[in-house]
Amino acid sequence: SQPRTLIAGNWKMYKTEGQAVELAAGLVAGLADALPPERELLILPPFTALKTVSEKLRGRERMFVGAQNFYPSEEGAYTGEIAPSMLADAGCTHALAGHSERRHVIKESDRFIAQKVAFGLQAGLHMILCIGETLDQRTHGSMENVVKGQLRLGLAQVNKETVTPEQLTIAYEPVWAIGTGETAEPEDILSAHAVVRKTLEEHFPHCGNGIRILYGGSVKADNAAAILGLDNVNGVLVGGASLQVESFTAIATAD
Ligand code: G3H
Repeated sequence: SQPRTLIAGNWKMYKTEGQAVELAAGLVAGLADALPPERELLILPPFTALKTVSEKLRGRERMFVGAQNFYPSEEGAYTGEIAPSMLADAGCTHALAGHSERRHVIKESDRFIAQKVAFGLQAGLHMILCIGETLDQRTHGSMENVVKGQLRLGLAQVNKETVTPEQLTIAYEPVWAIGTGETAEPEDILSAHAVVRKTLEEHFPHCGNGIRILYGGSVKADNAAAILGLDNVNGVLVGGASLQVESFTAIATAD
């Protein structure tokens, strides 16, 4: 059976602990009875708010907390970094890898991203691998090659025999649509997600057709229903519009 649709909110570097708990409490109040049964909610707060936000969501069905990043090692002398075991201890069940802001601002390589995906899976986290082309790459007609390349490289260390759709999700986020208010057109989303699906099926013959593919990039309350209705769109990864109760609740219930 197809995994549930995932509505994920990436809070990026926003919200102090107090603000985060207030937002989480508002989401719980607004969605406890309203989240459609075939959907899951995931929120990705900054590290300092993970534990208190997890406590707010504790015991809520289909509501999860995840981390925006971690270092792929059990522990060690890695100043400033956080291990998956620490995230699990703080209540996280999911984590991102390969977000475009980490690729382009922090300069993470495909190889490092691949290590995170594989290590996070081994550590028991549900991994969300983010991929997507820049405007320059799209203009030069290389969306397909970029998407395929980032997928192949990012998934290179994943055990093909054992991985399941319950452990791994892909997020397609065209960089030119992130935080710009410019949402990809339905046909852009359809064609990119078709490339992702085909690549997943080739890479993981036994489960590639069941792995969720999220769309991210200026998803708002007024375009969420249309995006969620597209073929091969199994959820959304929301940035800006996940920072307010009203807009994220509207996205999570959009129909
Ligand atoms: O992780 C989320 C994406 O970067 C999308 O951000 O919804 O603010 O465009 P945005």
